[in-house]
Amino acid sequence: MILAVSLNPCLDRIVYVQELKTGTLNRGQKILVSAGGKGVNVAKVVAALEEPVCLTGFFAGAAGRYIISELDGRGVRTKPVWLENQETRTTVNIMDLKTGKETEITEPGPLIPPQKIDEFFETAKKAVEEASVVVLSGSLPKGVDPDIYKTLILFAKDLGKYTVLDASGQPLEKGIEAGPTAIKPNVREMGALMGNEKPGKEQMAEYCGRLREKGISYVCVSMGSEGAFLSFEDQIHFMKAFSVNAVNTIGCGDAMTAGLAVGLQRGYKPFDMLRFATACAASNATFEEIGVVDKETVEKLYLRP
Ligand SMILES: Nc1ncnc2c1ncn2[C@@H]1O[C@H](COP(=O)(O)OP(=O)(O)OP(=O)(O)O)[C@@H](O)[C@H]1O
Ligand SMILES: [Mg+2]
Repeated sequence: MILAVSLNPCLDRIVYVQELKTGTLNRGQKILVSAGGKGVNVAKVVAALEEPVCLTGFFAGAAGRYIISELDGRGVRTKPVWLENQETRTTVNIMDLKTGKETEITEPGPLIPPQKIDEFFETAKKAVEEASVVVLSGSLPKGVDPDIYKTLILFAKDLGKYTVLDASGQPLEKGIEAGPTAIKPNVREMGALMGNEKPGKEQMAEYCGRLREKGISYVCVSMGSEGAFLSFEDQIHFMKAFSVNAVNTIGCGDAMTAGLAVGLQRGYKPFDMLRFATACAASNATFEEIGVVDKETVEKLYLRP
């Protein structure tokens, strides 16, 4: 079973308007509502690939209940830690059909009280025991210590579980100290880790090597529509992105992370893992909705000669 940890999930609402005007009424033409947040996207993709998956994290209010019921409908088992008198974040994306411009409004999200963090650790530890791969991804809600991923990775490693980390900033830096099995920074996140604002392709092998020295077996660096590198032992593989009819590339990184986790679970060789993850990312790009892949498309791309 793959366990996805989603500490800061959100409800994504995309509202399409003809032309966005401030200070007046805007009538929405169409809305798309979906369970979101990086860990939630990972769990949705793993479920679409028909691998057993469980998700844990903090949930609150009506938005929290919506996310749990959507995940349930998609075959994701959930072990939520419920917060009282709070509300899971809703992110509103206003799509202006005339200009094609996107305006995003995010909510601050809940504050996690200390006793809920203790409850989370209890829940998460039980879930880790049942899992073979643990995926930690996304930002942290307020009240959560930035070394939470590090703590969870150390716990999972002690039990012999694989861990995949996809985060940024401090939670990523601290998490790396625990030596997760795999990480998937994008090129900007890799640049920030290495103190280089404009990292180039030619530096990736060296940067991946430096991270692997910290005990990370697989370093996968994604470079948007260009493709991705995967460094493992003395090998470095590059995989160009598949050419697909891309309609929304948000969440491609999450689909890639899900693909890496499934690759680890299935015991794929490094290049196959990268190819499979790249196929997941490409399939995600063909959907308007985030965190959605088509299993047949993924398999077709993966097996394409
Ligand atoms: N237009 C595209 N067509 C096909 N594949 C794409 C496209 N854009 C991205 N991808 C695939 O998705 C992978 C991950 O993309 P990217 O580097 O943008 O991740 P990310 O920045 O972590 O994204 P996010 O955090 O929004 O999920 C790339 O390595 C590539 O294989
Ligand atoms: Mg990402």
